[in-house]
Amino acid sequence: MIWYDTIEQNNLTLHLKPISIRDLFYFQYSPATIFYVNKEKVFQEVYKKNSPINREALSFIIKKTDGNIFIDSSDYEEVINLQQGNLRKTIRSISMSKSLKNIKKLINLLSLNLKYLYQNPQSDNQLNLQYQSIISTFNLIIENEDVIPFLFQEIYKQKHYYIITQPFISSLNLLSFLLKQKFYNKKEMENLFVTSYFKDIGMSSIPFENYEGLIQTEREKKLFSNHPNVSVKYLFGRLPLNLNNLNIIKHHHSYHSLVNKDLREIKNQNNESIILGFETLLVSVMDIIAGMTSNRPFRETKSLFESLIVIKKVMIKDYPKEFTILVNFFKRFFAKK
Ligand SMILES: [Fe+2]
Repeated sequence: MIWYDTIEQNNLTLHLKPISIRDLFYFQYSPATIFYVNKEKVFQEVYKKNSPINREALSFIIKKTDGNIFIDSSDYEEVINLQQGNLRKTIRSISMSKSLKNIKKLINLLSLNLKYLYQNPQSDNQLNLQYQSIISTFNLIIENEDVIPFLFQEIYKQKHYYIITQPFISSLNLLSFLLKQKFYNKKEMENLFVTSYFKDIGMSSIPFENYEGLIQTEREKKLFSNHPNVSVKYLFGRLPLNLNNLNIIKHHHSYHSLVNKDLREIKNQNNESIILGFETLLVSVMDIIAGMTSNRPFRETKSLFESLIVIKKVMIKDYPKEFTILVNFFKRFFAKK
């Protein structure tokens, strides 16, 4: 490598940002020049800005780069803007045509934009768009419950970081259960669905690269255990969530602790009085099941049966009848899927 190449490489190292192939979905033209690291460990251009993006182009890029691609960080904002626009357009077209193609696009763009929200949780633009999208998804399900298995299939297929897929999976579990039990009216179901979906936004305080691995350092453990409080901080006054919803978010991991501890013990350890109602339990339980049965790079996937054994520990003392209803629901639900 000659000296001016070295300068160019240093410059690229400073300005390039890794992105995923998914960030390029639904574009007609590449919003940025795409780079990869070649065999000599040198950044090399693989696809030019404004070149057409289609299935063939994406396969070419994946083949050449193994999916490890980079763009100039100054182009990243534009990628986000364009993908926000794609999600807005998809919400509008869903209201006219509920084709499986449109629904699949909605789920893909919802996840992609959730990633952008985690990267910038202060963005009102991104938060409002995510809220509108999840309300549209809720209405889509309410109008046609038969779409639920397809939604599960698509979200599992995406293989995003668990932090991106888990809110949707646990909220979908929750809504499926609520729809069958008929405990709540439409507005209450909508509130719980939204609450469950946004409960982990505080996880955005954990560096993104750690989502794929174990949370190891004391600082990361602290950040993780504090994420329900951070979620409340991010959401308070920014989304139409009432105090009850915010309390559910604040305590959505209290029941997780019951797996190893007793409720009285948890209450004694906390200075404030914990409000742990049935709705908090439901949100929490669906989250535990979604977490245990999903693929995570650092933990073995458990079966639904194994996750229900854990849930039994949590529910059996205070909610034995509800536990039986839950077991019966999942038995029927998974038999159908
Ligand atoms: Fe959480």
